[in-house]
Amino acid sequence: MINVSIIGGSGYAGGELLRLLAFHPKVKVKQATSMRFAGQPVSLVHPNLRGVCDLVFCGLEELKPCDLLFVALPNGESMDLMANFMKLSPKIIDLGADFRLQDEKIWENYYHTPHTKSALLKKFVYGVPEIYAEQIKKADYVAGPGCEAIVSILCLYPLIKNNLIKEEPIIVDAKMGSSQSGNKPSSSSHHPERAGAVRSYQPVGHRHAAEIEQVLNQFGQKVTVNISATAIEMVRGILVTIHTFLKKEVEEKEIWKILRTEYGEKPFVRIVKKKQGLYRFPEPKILQGTNYCDIGFEKESKGSRLVVLGAIDNLVKGTAGNAVQCLNLMFGFEESLALEFPGLHPI
Ligand SMILES: NC(=O)c1ccc[n+]([C@@H]2O[C@H](COP(=O)([O-])OP(=O)(O)OC[C@H]3O[C@@H](n4cnc5c(N)ncnc54)[C@H](OP(=O)(O)O)[C@@H]3O)[C@@H](O)[C@H]2O)c1
Repeated sequence: MINVSIIGGSGYAGGELLRLLAFHPKVKVKQATSMRFAGQPVSLVHPNLRGVCDLVFCGLEELKPCDLLFVALPNGESMDLMANFMKLSPKIIDLGADFRLQDEKIWENYYHTPHTKSALLKKFVYGVPEIYAEQIKKADYVAGPGCEAIVSILCLYPLIKNNLIKEEPIIVDAKMGSSQSGNKPSSSSHHPERAGAVRSYQPVGHRHAAEIEQVLNQFGQKVTVNISATAIEMVRGILVTIHTFLKKEVEEKEIWKILRTEYGEKPFVRIVKKKQGLYRFPEPKILQGTNYCDIGFEKESKGSRLVVLGAIDNLVKGTAGNAVQCLNLMFGFEESLALEFPGLHPI
């Protein structure tokens, strides 16, 4: 049994870590922090954990040493605190953006602020278990990917690796649920403004493009990924519809083969492309609470367009579930421990 603590336990990602780890047979959550709710029961903020988690939130200054520390702070908050966190725990999984990019210049271009701890960037392994399992197993520090990033990477990685699609254009049309922006209220999350929205909030310049390109560029080609993000009426979930263009004519069975070869043995990636039924393609609705990433595709009969579809729950495969999967690898546990929930239908 290992002891872990969660910094930012009152947030949405922190709440999902608490939910998943409550049923992990080899992990005990010792502490969870909140500045706002220090001294209050966890179940006050995460009511789904009533009778499941009897922890009380603590302040950052009360944290004790542990075997692994999850850091679930808003972007930009963990870099200055990281050196102190490293004294508390030999292993850290940071869910924020601060340590995802290896190149500080690219980080600064996308986040418009200097990176104050760039010397630590290279210590972090980028946490996509389906691609970097061997590095994650040996890592002390893991940076959890952004949620649009991980679903887009899982869709595109086998296609770039096998030289199937053009490096440009790659257009990611991302439809996002509201929980993606965390639990801090803002004018855009105010119910009359958010309810019923189909709001284009980032038509160009999305930060997660940098992470996706960082992974896809490893094969030597220079890939350019453009994201357009739209907020839709949904609490959890992301659907990416990715427009790519084939380099040469390929049969559908070849694309199947490439995806099966890459993901056939991976516990949380499913290829979803059915000829009948309502759920012929990936759909985030039925992935709520699960760690699955569903991937589908359809080839245009005219021209060279290959549409790749990916769906996840942003709070699970997009954050907390993926982080638990990384923990399992880091400690040599079975990769799917505590992540077996198959979702609900109907929901
Ligand atoms: N939401 C998603 O879908 C998603 C997906 C992928 C990655 N992530 C990443 O996960 C991280 C957490 O996201 P979230 O959605 O859980 O955010 P959130 O709901 O806003 O929660 C943020 C947490 O950080 C704490 N906090 C804020 N500022 C702090 C400070 N200066 N010092 C100490 N604690 C502080 C808050 O505690 P208080 O109670 O004190 O306010 C809260 O527990 C972010 O970096 C985000 O990029 C989120």
